[in-house]
Amino acid sequence: MGIYSKPLVFAVLSAVVILVGTVVTVFIPMLMPSMHPVSDYVKPYTAVELEGRDIYIREGCNSCHTQTVRPLRTEVLRYGEYSKPEEFAYDRPFLWGSRRTGPDLNRLGGKYPDSWHYKHMESPQSMFEKSNMPPYGWMAEKRLDTRYSVKKIAVLGYGYTEDEVAAQIADYKARVTDPSYSSKAARDAVTPEALRGELTEMDAIIAYMQKLGRDVKNLEAAK
Ligand code: HEC
Repeated sequence: MGIYSKPLVFAVLSAVVILVGTVVTVFIPMLMPSMHPVSDYVKPYTAVELEGRDIYIREGCNSCHTQTVRPLRTEVLRYGEYSKPEEFAYDRPFLWGSRRTGPDLNRLGGKYPDSWHYKHMESPQSMFEKSNMPPYGWMAEKRLDTRYSVKKIAVLGYGYTEDEVAAQIADYKARVTDPSYSSKAARDAVTPEALRGELTEMDAIIAYMQKLGRDVKNLEAAK
């Protein structure tokens, strides 16, 4: 008979076995460096891209869009190179998503010029008649709030100094407000006059859209 006639001992011993198994197969690997790949080619978000990412989360864009291309032929043909673990090193939380009402966005950066995004965010239906993506034109009417950028970056451990954060914000502002900015006409068309010299939430979300998958594309281009 042995252990089978002692239900309590059996239950305790099986709990111990399952616990040991869980620690060995789940928790120990979680602490191993190979589970946290760091690659030089993956760059952390700049302050403006990070603000854009926060707006993306706030608006729940991830409930309609995934950010992970699976290693399946159909997906690679449609979106490009499949997603690698190290690409998400700076993503907290992950925005892989599980539902694709809209297309995957993990390889979006550089696919369209900024002007396309200004028009699409203002009115997705103007680009794709049957799109069921809601319009987000009002984002261009909201000044970007960067009061917490330094704090957020410190919490995430991206390692920029306060001055670097200020410089990133100033640089991006200079870029989009420059009279020779290549998407100036599209930006002006959606941005109220009073905000054309400022950074808006729309500018930040577009900065973030252009960053998605950019590191991988840069790496491939450099090969
Ligand atoms: C109700 C679901 C829904 C939500 C919410 C949504 N989208 Fe979309 N999105 C779509 C659909 C459907 C498409 C495909 C048609 C189109 O381009 O409009 C799309 C397309 C896109 C594209 C073009 C992708 C490509 O490769 O052509 C971008 C960029 C995009 N969405 C960004 C966003 C952002 C940013 C947000 C949040 C502010 C958002 N979407 C919220 C449904 C959604």
